[in-house]
Amino acid sequence: MTISSFPPIHKPSRDDMPVAPNLEYAKTRAGFDWQQMYSELDWLPGGYLNKAHEAIDRHANGPRRDKIAMIWEGKNGEREDYTFGQLKTLTNKFANVIKSLGIETGDRVFLFMDRLPETYIAFFGILKAGAVVGPLFSAFGPDPVRDRLQDSGAKVLVTQPELRRRITGIIPELFELQHIIIVNKNNRDTEGRDMADLDWDEEMGKASTDFDTVRTSQYDYSVMHYTSGTTGKPKGAVHRHQAVVQQYATGKWALDLHEDDVYWCTADPGWVTGTSYGMLAPWTNGLTQLIYEGGFRASAWYEMLQKHKVSVWYTAPTAIRMLMKAGEELPHRYDLSRLRYSCSVGEPLNPEAVVWGEKAIGMPFHDNWWQTETGAILVANYPEMDIRPGSMGRPIPGVEVGVVDENFDPAPPGVDGNLVVRPGWPSMFHSYWNNTEMYNSRFRKGWYVTGDSARVDEDGYFWFVGRTDDVINTAGHLVGPFEVESALIEHPAVAEAGVIGKPDPIAMEIVKAFVALKDGVEATPALQRELTRFTRQKLSAGVAPREIEFVPTLPKTRSGKIMRRLLKARELGLPEGDTSTLEEEE
Ligand code: PRX
Repeated sequence: MTISSFPPIHKPSRDDMPVAPNLEYAKTRAGFDWQQMYSELDWLPGGYLNKAHEAIDRHANGPRRDKIAMIWEGKNGEREDYTFGQLKTLTNKFANVIKSLGIETGDRVFLFMDRLPETYIAFFGILKAGAVVGPLFSAFGPDPVRDRLQDSGAKVLVTQPELRRRITGIIPELFELQHIIIVNKNNRDTEGRDMADLDWDEEMGKASTDFDTVRTSQYDYSVMHYTSGTTGKPKGAVHRHQAVVQQYATGKWALDLHEDDVYWCTADPGWVTGTSYGMLAPWTNGLTQLIYEGGFRASAWYEMLQKHKVSVWYTAPTAIRMLMKAGEELPHRYDLSRLRYSCSVGEPLNPEAVVWGEKAIGMPFHDNWWQTETGAILVANYPEMDIRPGSMGRPIPGVEVGVVDENFDPAPPGVDGNLVVRPGWPSMFHSYWNNTEMYNSRFRKGWYVTGDSARVDEDGYFWFVGRTDDVINTAGHLVGPFEVESALIEHPAVAEAGVIGKPDPIAMEIVKAFVALKDGVEATPALQRELTRFTRQKLSAGVAPREIEFVPTLPKTRSGKIMRRLLKARELGLPEGDTSTLEEEE
């Protein structure tokens, strides 16, 4: 049974494929034990495990020492290549830099950086020093940066001159921050730095190239990413060094990474895809990967694929839909003959986009599913498996994924239910920083509850249905309505605000705000523009509402909670009666 009107895309048999896939799904899944994958890691003497050792030093210490790990192409066309050996030296230096600043095992060091080589060097240097690294999306405005740095109690922040200027106003509110390190890449910035800040080049210049990676245990914290929920501020999902085994394994199985591949993950390292699959999966597999600093432009992206002979590509539905908009003819102007495998994640990948891949780039996109909390891919379409366009695929070996009803009984095939996962997969998050209650609330009746709804068909393929909460997925980035509402009500004209995701053909959803103004304030187009500017400046263009509608009042439950789902029903022209039970929800 398929749940799509699109016919399946059949794959040739393994023997007829130019590159034999790493994963034999049925065989590997039967009787799988994670110990098999743990034994493929290098480990530190004494049974210790550190992500930086697995991603960099193990290769630098062996035959891949002079292999190119990173090809960096800057937004102005600059190019820098780094071998595993060079990355080892540079990350050693940065580990020494932060150690000299007093950073200890478990301390948080945050990055507020663009896609620069230094971002990657800092990331692994921090891990080597035994600290916890928290990358922040460089498009963020001051409010999201302040919330995340305050909540995590970060002691050191690594950033760039222009980003530092953007957040100057919040620095006095960061009581635990002790140092700011500024990366002025290629002296691009000429405005001069705050004398109280440290300079990357100066600090790195003084640092020794020798460093003994801190012997972290597999259970020690390593990386944290903030993710938005329905209520409250974003939560810091914390991963352990142990996650590396699944990042390595899924790089092999779901992305089918092979020794000679050139790999390109288009995700930003400010989000989990950009670290799990833009750093850890490719490098633990010893691959060469492209880091492209520039933004999205269809022709520039095809140019990257051609120029760097990319063979495995991991991207996202919004980008694919934008490529579709640019036309099927455009990719045919480029030599994409090296490309052999392409994948997508982060939002529902519509079947049209899967099939379009075949015509435009000569292969379908392989959708896969996971979350910040899961740390790595859990459901995927694999190279040897027929694709059912519109399906997220099947669970990875070693993980049980289910669809259950409200009593946690399995939903029959084809019936919507909650998407749940049996806890214990290696890359499972281990806490929400400072928020045990919220963490515990994600586990019910022996399952981790993902917050997504899905169906499973009779052959075990999973199909995404929607989210069960109010979180908005805009261009693959989760936005918590509460964060946007909080920013809006800080404006003196606003009495209250309700924020929803409005369906959009490209970005899947856009952020839409309903705003009730204070008495006597006039609802004018000028005020609408002012609120857009205000929220963009505070949050970022991607998080700020794309549409603002003034309303006299907002619908609320008896306890005063804004009924976002009623706002959404109205927006979509659905009968409001359908949501009448919301009144009792509180
Ligand atoms: O709703 C699902 C959607 O993105 C959410 C996870 O977002 P985030 O924590 O930011 O993690 C990004 C790394 C993948 C999921 O709960 N999502 C992710 N992948 C898919 C998806 N929705 C549909 N299809 C997918 N393949």
